[in-house]
Amino acid sequence: MIFERVLVAGAGQMGAGIAQVVAVSGRQVLLHDPFPGALDRGFETMRKSLGKLHEKGGAAPDDVLARVTPVEALVDADLLIEAVVEDADAKKELFRDADLALGPEAVLASNTSSIPITELAAVTSRPERVIGMHFFNPVPVLSLVEVIRAEQTSDETAAAIVEFARDLGKTPAEANDFPGFVSNRILMPFVNEAAYALMEGVAEAEAIDTVAKLGFAHPMGPLALADLIGLDTCVAIMDVLHDGLGDPKYAPCPLLRRYVAAGRLGRKSGRGFYDYG
Ligand code: 3HC
Repeated sequence: MIFERVLVAGAGQMGAGIAQVVAVSGRQVLLHDPFPGALDRGFETMRKSLGKLHEKGGAAPDDVLARVTPVEALVDADLLIEAVVEDADAKKELFRDADLALGPEAVLASNTSSIPITELAAVTSRPERVIGMHFFNPVPVLSLVEVIRAEQTSDETAAAIVEFARDLGKTPAEANDFPGFVSNRILMPFVNEAAYALMEGVAEAEAIDTVAKLGFAHPMGPLALADLIGLDTCVAIMDVLHDGLGDPKYAPCPLLRRYVAAGRLGRKSGRGFYDYG
């Protein structure tokens, strides 16, 4: 399996980051996002990030961006990487459409944080060619890619995607298809517990984050990280853990839900646990 033409669906922070690292690897990228203004914002995100990397000896931003073509519809490619909103119905619809738009040999990968890959595979005519490829934000900086096999994924597809991730300069870690996989099974309850600690008045947000940064040597505290990820995405992931594992310990913290209901989504909306002006 050779992945030279890669279609990235979704030009948000994850989609733009994925498009960027694939283009940096020398491949052609087709970037699709039907939301007005999303492609422009995606290109702006890539340009900013590539500018920072260029200062440290990375490729010239214009050379990389010349390999990224915006497309108005899903088009044929060797590989799709989907990074649309963290919603099972939206992702299933995208996979149904991609199954029709891409040739039968193409692999369909999802960057989902927690939605079962097995269910996405089941809506396509090529379930053995469906897989999870979970990148971490900021994608150009963090080297992990969690590779998740659906129940139906073939050994050949898994091996090809592991090799592809390595070729992007990433380190793959393989996981099976359980709710939240490895990363969010561990990370999200930590974020959720930090939200409970804030809600119950155990400490102020800054103190909670300082404990994680200085006490556990994390690069950022769980509340600042939740703001980076998006509080709506955090709630969506906790809902998947709660529904999929059936244990009340995974119920999203009411404070997280309240902030999301109020439009406090984190950095992307200007306010979450912290204020970004
Ligand atoms: N592109 C290119 N370079 C970037 C960048 C980007 N998008 N973001 C940061 N950088 C560079 C900066 O230029 C800087 O470079 P320098 O050291 O040469 O000056 C370096 O990275 C460090 O950045 P900053 O000085 O701005 O700030 P920090 O030292 O705090 O680093 C961070 C920022 C890389 C975001 C770091 O805080 C970090 O790694 N935080 C944890 C992030 C994390 O845990 N992500 C995973 C989230 S979970 C997820 O995504 C999965 C999903 O399913 C929820």
